[in-house]
Amino acid sequence: MMAKLSLRGVRKRFGDVDVCNGIDLDVADGEMVCLIGASGSGKSTLLRCMNLLEPIDDGSIWLDGSDISEPGLDAQPVRQKIGIVFQSYNLFPHMTAAENVMLAPRRVHGHTRDALRPKITALFERFGLGDRMDHYPDQLSGGQQQRVAIIRALAMAPEIMLFDEITSALDPELVGEVLDVLRDLRQQGMTMVLATHEMGFARELADKVCFLDAGRILEQGPPAKLFTAPREARTKAFLSRVL
Ligand SMILES: Nc1ncnc2c1ncn2[C@@H]1O[C@H](COP(=O)(O)OP(=O)(O)O)[C@@H](O)[C@H]1O
Ligand SMILES: [Mg+2]
Repeated sequence: MMAKLSLRGVRKRFGDVDVCNGIDLDVADGEMVCLIGASGSGKSTLLRCMNLLEPIDDGSIWLDGSDISEPGLDAQPVRQKIGIVFQSYNLFPHMTAAENVMLAPRRVHGHTRDALRPKITALFERFGLGDRMDHYPDQLSGGQQQRVAIIRALAMAPEIMLFDEITSALDPELVGEVLDVLRDLRQQGMTMVLATHEMGFARELADKVCFLDAGRILEQGPPAKLFTAPREARTKAFLSRVL
């Protein structure tokens, strides 16, 4: 069966460092794939390559069987299909949560606020923020702001969502509410790729875990296998540090 998203031999260099050094990865429709690995192993760069925020130096990226990495291709439609959420929420402080969420659909699709309101109200309610739509970011907790950032990405109706360490900046007691959003999305069949340090979460929910080491996927497999019986010495060493 054709993968939803496929990477073949993806390379990305910064200066003379191969930050992604020949990445092969298949993400099936509705799958949750977790990227784990030490800081600097290339997780963020790989995610940024996937939705064309970084041009790749070699290899190819395929979405639903079409090559999206061809030079000169318009990245905008691809970025609408592949949403990304970062560790820092990057909400505009002078706009309410609802205004932040409506900004891109208004600009990109030309939708009016009135046309968008019902759809985004449903999203805010689904993620427990129905009463926070008209609050400003500084009136919201970190966990609430991160959930607004996720809603902002979902408002573009993406087919794939990428998450880069989205709980890393949160106080520990706020991590759970953001992970619950990911649980909900997975249940609804969203295709997702996450860079994460939440090993318990990856173990519980990932379909596939990839261990990155110096720009390569050194080992990948179902979490039951990778976490309990890693093949590579470097995977073992990493897991013994973080588990
Ligand atoms: N824009 C950039 N310019 C130069 N080097 C970069 C850039 N982005 C990342 N790097 C380098 O690439 C390597 C991998 O970084 P990154 O993808 O952020 O890894 P991770 O997310 O696993 O911590 C690091 O050595 C980092 O310093
Ligand atoms: Mg990173």
